[in-house]
Amino acid sequence: MKKVYAYIIIICACLLTACSSGEAGYRIGVSQCSEGRWRNKVNQEMLAAQHLYERDVKICIANSYDDAARQARQIDSLATTGIDLLVVAPNEDSKAINDAIGRVRRQGLPVIFFDRKTSMTDYTAFIGGNNTEAGEVVGRYAATLGQRILEVTGSMSSSPAQERHKGFEQAMARHRGLDYVCEVSDWTAEGCRQSVSRQLEAGFRPDVIFCHNDAQTVGARKAVEAAGLAGTVKLLGIDGMPDEGLLYMQQGRLNGTYVYPTHGEKIVRLALDILTGRPYKRDNALTSIMVTPEEIDLVALNAKELTVQNKDLITIHQRLERTFGLYDTQQKVLWTLAVTCLVMVMAVVAIWRAYRQTRKAVLQRQAMNEEQTLFYTDANRRKVTEILSTPQEHLPQPQSQDVLFAERLNEAIRKNMSNPNLKMDELGEELGLRRVQLYRRVKALTGMSPVELLRQMRLQQAYVLLGSTTKTVAEIAFEVGFNTPGYFSKCFKEQYGKLPMDLRDSATKDT
Ligand code: FRU
Repeated sequence: MKKVYAYIIIICACLLTACSSGEAGYRIGVSQCSEGRWRNKVNQEMLAAQHLYERDVKICIANSYDDAARQARQIDSLATTGIDLLVVAPNEDSKAINDAIGRVRRQGLPVIFFDRKTSMTDYTAFIGGNNTEAGEVVGRYAATLGQRILEVTGSMSSSPAQERHKGFEQAMARHRGLDYVCEVSDWTAEGCRQSVSRQLEAGFRPDVIFCHNDAQTVGARKAVEAAGLAGTVKLLGIDGMPDEGLLYMQQGRLNGTYVYPTHGEKIVRLALDILTGRPYKRDNALTSIMVTPEEIDLVALNAKELTVQNKDLITIHQRLERTFGLYDTQQKVLWTLAVTCLVMVMAVVAIWRAYRQTRKAVLQRQAMNEEQTLFYTDANRRKVTEILSTPQEHLPQPQSQDVLFAERLNEAIRKNMSNPNLKMDELGEELGLRRVQLYRRVKALTGMSPVELLRQMRLQQAYVLLGSTTKTVAEIAFEVGFNTPGYFSKCFKEQYGKLPMDLRDSATKDT
């Protein structure tokens, strides 16, 4: 029975754990190199796509804020949280990051590079904008805007900056007579401001400044304004975020931007294809478009609508998460209740069984005690009968102290039997009892009064003597305490149905 209970509890525990976590799906760790509007958008898109496909995924994002060592640590720690796949936008092509990615690969986990790459070739897939194409497209457009062109790069340790530069340079090379200068910078507005100022101070007067991202154009604009050249320089960038590049264009502060594709949902799709064993492409370059002032209103309108839709998706997603959470809690509560009920029923059954067993044991013990008592009291009865030679059947069961009393009574009577004047007071005194007490005890024990018992024992003794001695009837009568042989004979006849003489005669005849 105990085993059955154990099995029930194990089954319940399994059911509880099975139901509590629900269908969690895959866990995807995302290591972001940086922050900013473009990164925020792609993060939001990935989060919104968690429930978009046939299998749910859980996205866990870590941001290293342009710090390669920090990103390496974050990758290591993401890998310990039970992720099924790592998505990484490496800050730069550094040993620390490559080593960390290598460790993830050795764990047997797939790795997707997105937006940026490193020189390492051991990765599962890449997805991101075509940066060479972006650079080239912007370069072609720049060449239509003026002769003197300044390119301000992003951080050249990152693959997008290298590829954008390559593409731009290619476009520049296709046009003869261009005055093209390149300033290596970083992805920030301030870095760009300093780079542009440097060129302006060196006497270069660009018609066009191409910054590797839209955020940098803010710094470029500051430098141009500071040099008193506002309105004379056209600014171009990359990213095309609705609340950044596209907005600047609508405000007339930017003359063109390349919409660098985010597509967080495509990253999740690729991850799921890899995880579920579906066919996938190793290299997934996302192409996009250049936005010029002619189409900015239309593009901005679409982008705004898309932003609203994406926000709605995120709201739906958050509600779904809450509902799932609630459902999960309800399920847990239900199961806990069911298990509690089951345990309670089991406890009640166990208590009932224990109670029945105890009761049975108590009854058994009682029966045994009664048997024992009966055995001992029967022995007592036998003893009293033996000692006093009186019938016991109709009398209450004697106790062991009654047996002792019977012995003492027997002794006292035998000792004083020959005294014809023996008083009950004297007999009582011998036994330490008053006459009334003596009467009560003797009556209870033998059913006779002390006087009757004394007479019976005298006659019994006489009976014995008649059969075992040659003493005369008269002698025996006196010996057992009768005053006259005649009265003795009368009592004897009453007791045994014959006279003492008759007994003596038959004894003589026998011998
Ligand atoms: C954001 C960002 C973008 C740029 C991309 C290149 O971190 O700097 O502005 O287009 O990264 O990887």
